Parts: sequence; C-alpha cells; structure tokens
Amino acid sequence: MEGLVIMTNKLFFTFEGPEGAGKTTVLKMVVSKLQEEGKEVIATREPGGSVIAEEIRQVILNPAHTEMDAKTEALLYAAARSQHFVEKIEPALKQGKLVLCDRFIDSSLAYQGIGRGLGIEGVKSINEFAIGQRMPDMTILFDLDPKIGLARINAHKNREINRLDVESLAFHQKVREAYLKLAEEFPERIYVIDASQSLEEVFQNVWKVLKNAV
Ligand code: TYD
Repeated sequence: MEGLVIMTNKLFFTFEGPEGAGKTTVLKMVVSKLQEEGKEVIATREPGGSVIAEEIRQVILNPAHTEMDAKTEALLYAAARSQHFVEKIEPALKQGKLVLCDRFIDSSLAYQGIGRGLGIEGVKSINEFAIGQRMPDMTILFDLDPKIGLARINAHKNREINRLDVESLAFHQKVREAYLKLAEEFPERIYVIDASQSLEEVFQNVWKVLKNAV
C-alpha cells in the first residue's frame, strides 16, 4: 500500500514503582541522555503535569485529608490523569515527541485497585473513561522491597511526605505484589528492573531497555 507509514518506534514511556525506588532521578538521567542524542522528549509526572492536575494533586496528597474515601481518591487520580492526558501527553505524542511520565495508570491499578482494595476492574473502568484505550507503549517497573524504599525516603529529610507514604508496610507490600502481577499479565509492555542496585546500575539497565525501543 502506497503511502502507508508503519510506526514501530515507541513514544509513550511510563516509570512505575514504589516510593524511594529512584525512578524520578533515573527518569531525569534518561531524559538528558535522550536529548544528547537529539531526541525531542518531554518529561512529566502524575498526579500532576498540568496546572489543573497539579491542583488536584494538592487535594489528593494533603496529609491532613485523612477522611478521604478510597473511591474519591481513585476518581481524583483519574480526573487528574484525564486533564494531564488531554492537555499535555496526547498533543506531544501527536507531534511525534517522546513522552516519559513518572507514574501513570499502573499506579492507580496497584495503589487504588489492590492497595486500597477497590479491585482492578473498577479502577480500570474509571481510567478507561478518563483516557480511553491509550496505554503506555512501554512501562519500566522499578521493583523494590518496600522496607528499603521507605528507609531511603526517611533518610532524605527534606523530601515531602505525602498521604500515601505514611501507609503501613503491609499496604506497600500489597502494592509491590500488585505491580509484579501486572508485569506478569502484560509482559510485552512492562519491564521489571531490580531497583535495589546502585543508581548507576539501575540507570544502565533502564537505558539498555529504552534505547532499543526509541
Ligand atoms: P509522589 O510524591 O509523586 O511520589 P513518588 O515520588 O513516590 O512517585 O506522590 C505520588 C503518590 O501518589 C505516591 O504515593 C503514589 C500515589 N499514586 C497513587 O496512589 N495512584 C496513582 O494513580 C498515582 C499516579 C499516584
């Protein structure tokens, strides 16, 4: 067929995993490396990434909001995602830019679906309402024992502690299991990286996977 362009390169990448796994730092390192190679890339994060979504983030993560219902929490994450997606992610993808997003739908499936016990199906359906069928092309899962992750974040005194950080170790353990189950379910999309290694080793492993995809 004449004029048919088959796009094989992946554009939309998400970084997932627990607090303290180093994903935000590694994401910045990867962005620099991609830019050095002349790629057009945007880095963003959830919840947030746009003015409205950042305002929703303040409501969700405020440690004072102890009475927030789990369904309200899931809906707010989905609302922030919808706005972020329409305003920032989709336009960038349409322009052929690489998008690297710190957390996305898998966070909702793991934290709200399993951590909060709302169930994967319900959380998936509100997210489909928010973003349709557009899943990330590739997801890097930073796998880490939550004991190590929580110890790392407690060691960084000036890091903001949010409403989910203060959940029990059992909650974070459930989230880890949920992520690993998602990786088993979607092996063609989700790559698991051992995040207990040094930052440099984690970065090298992520880069190895990513450079072949872009
Ligand atoms: P943030 O400070 O960005 O965490 P981190 O540095 O660990 O990525 O806070 C985001 C918090 O929100 C984090 O505890 C995970 C949680 N979260 C969900 O529970 N569901 C979601 O859909 C998203 C995007 C984040």
